[in-house]
Amino acid sequence: MDIITVNGLTKKFGKFTAVDKISFQVKTGEIFGLLGPNGAGKTTTIKMLITLLAPTAGNATIAGANITKEKRKVRDSIGVVFQDPSLDDQLTGRENMRFHAILYRVDPSKREKRIQDMLKLVELEDKADMLVKNYSGGMKRRLEIGRGLLHDPKIMFLDEPTIGLDTQTRRHIWDYIAKLNKEHKTTIILTSHYIEEADFLCNRVAFIDRGKIVALDTPNSLKEKMGGDVIAVRIKGDAKASAKIFRRAKWIKSVSAHESLIEFTVEDGEKRIPEIVLLARNLGITVISVDLRKPSLEDVFIKYTGKSIREEEGSWKDALRMRHAAMSGGRR
Ligand SMILES: Nc1ncnc2c1ncn2[C@@H]1O[C@H](COP(=O)(O)OP(=O)(O)OP(=O)(O)O)[C@@H](O)[C@H]1O
Ligand SMILES: [Mg+2]
Repeated sequence: MDIITVNGLTKKFGKFTAVDKISFQVKTGEIFGLLGPNGAGKTTTIKMLITLLAPTAGNATIAGANITKEKRKVRDSIGVVFQDPSLDDQLTGRENMRFHAILYRVDPSKREKRIQDMLKLVELEDKADMLVKNYSGGMKRRLEIGRGLLHDPKIMFLDEPTIGLDTQTRRHIWDYIAKLNKEHKTTIILTSHYIEEADFLCNRVAFIDRGKIVALDTPNSLKEKMGGDVIAVRIKGDAKASAKIFRRAKWIKSVSAHESLIEFTVEDGEKRIPEIVLLARNLGITVISVDLRKPSLEDVFIKYTGKSIREEEGSWKDALRMRHAAMSGGRR
């Protein structure tokens, strides 16, 4: 059964279309991922679904309630973890929980027990009475997840749940999300621009690029639909310039280049390796290494959007670094 139905949902900011007639369904009990680069329209989509932003056109129902006509009902069935942290640093973990429990009208007689249970779920019982400003990034994220669950929502929206966290902490958060889904049967809709995150967690993913859904399926089906293998060739010199020449070969289904790496999608990869090496030699390109692998979700993303999500991630990291630098400069 579908717990979320989205039909032609659209958001315009002036003349700019941030979300462009998107439609999809989320099944009860599913972990569904919206995956896309910066500015793709992920947060805008989430904000419409959680009733914080009015759509320009289209509609959606969440657990049977209409997002524009039955906002209260929608809000009662959802929990949210926002992309930007929304905890009060000057309060303890438990106090943050209490504040939220009151806001969400959690039965006062059950409130403290519920808070304790959620602190336990996200393993923050022993840090519950510490000020949040002394929490680590991962602890803050876990507290936000636990807080979003206080009123026992059927559906949890997680907007970039692991943004800015190191790899180890990120994996830790993945375990909570998976546990939540498995043990509490919570339907989860998450956004991410980490390919591995979606691959690891999601039953199905939708790739979103410039406000449009460009592909939607299970990670495995998406990879299988690519067909064939990926040959990754590391070369001496600039891959982008060399990749252009390779595109002429008919048996190469797609080519992408990133720094000194060229990746080809081909049928029967192992047979094509010698041909690629020969072709490179004839073109005067020095091959440093050759790798053969099955297509990844990243390859799928490249196929549908013509660009690597990694390139986007790089620019995102640079932007974040600049923002941090500007902020710390401003404080001084
Ligand atoms: N209130 C607003 N007014 C004008 N433009 C907006 C507004 N909110 C979002 N946008 C624009 O809509 C586009 C989509 O933004 P959105 O925040 O949904 O992207 P995103 O996919 O969540 O990106 P990120 O990965 O960086 O979080 C962007 O170009 C953004 O600048
Ligand atoms: Mg966002």
